[in-house]
Amino acid sequence: MTILDDLLQNNKSIKNIVILSGAGVSAESGIRTFRDSNGLWEDHSIEEVATPEAFQKNPKLVHNFYNQRRKQLLSSEVNFNKAHQIITEIEDSNLYNIVVITQNVDDLHERSGTKNVIHMHGELLKTKCTSCNISSPIDSDLNTLSICSQCNEKGTLRPDIVWFGEMPYQLNEIETYLNSADLFLSIGTSGQVYPAAMFVSTTPSECIKLEINIEKTNISNQFDYSIQDSSSKGMEILKNYLLPQK
Ligand code: APR
Repeated sequence: MTILDDLLQNNKSIKNIVILSGAGVSAESGIRTFRDSNGLWEDHSIEEVATPEAFQKNPKLVHNFYNQRRKQLLSSEVNFNKAHQIITEIEDSNLYNIVVITQNVDDLHERSGTKNVIHMHGELLKTKCTSCNISSPIDSDLNTLSICSQCNEKGTLRPDIVWFGEMPYQLNEIETYLNSADLFLSIGTSGQVYPAAMFVSTTPSECIKLEINIEKTNISNQFDYSIQDSSSKGMEILKNYLLPQK
């Protein structure tokens, strides 16, 4: 019996599925991860572009970094992949209550049609005003002179990204989902960034915990099962167990 057969046997008691997605889910869409070789943090240090202090010190550099990411996301070369699509199919089946807590700042889960998505680390396609604190959609470059569409202040806009040292979004809501999870799925995340890395340990003891990653992570030993494969292959395998075969 494989671990997934075991999962299938327990499937009858699965109603609430919590998915934590990371950069490895978007990797197959051509978006670079952070910590793999050729990851984003090889070209830029976190201290340079991903902290409030970095933005204070060199807003131009930080804007440029996120402008490039936004431009790539909106280019025709990037689209959702099989992993996003299968997650949507599982949600659309209405067999489960499903939430996707994503650390990704792209909108690929939404583009594939997933509805219940929490962007705990913010969104590339949003900007936040440091004066009125309102978050609004953005699809073009930001600079140090950009004007807030809400309060009309000039030079107050920042990317709506949760930087290191800042509080991730919707943590109370996330905690509620984690507390009632029957299946916790961690896909394509290195388990190096907290609090996301400790979500697995905050699920109930009877919750089935499954990790999908091309390699072992720091926190692999906290999962009951692991599929060591790409996000899309892993989700294809899992789909056979979660959705009725056609
Ligand atoms: N399929 C599955 N997993 C993959 C794939 C793939 N095709 N490609 C890479 N991975 C895995 C890597 O093995 C690695 O464990 O995805 C993980 C990516 O790890 P990180 O780059 O650290 O990304 P993530 O865990 O999402 O980072 C968390 O850190 O820098 C911050 O705010 C940023 O949200 C980000 C957070």
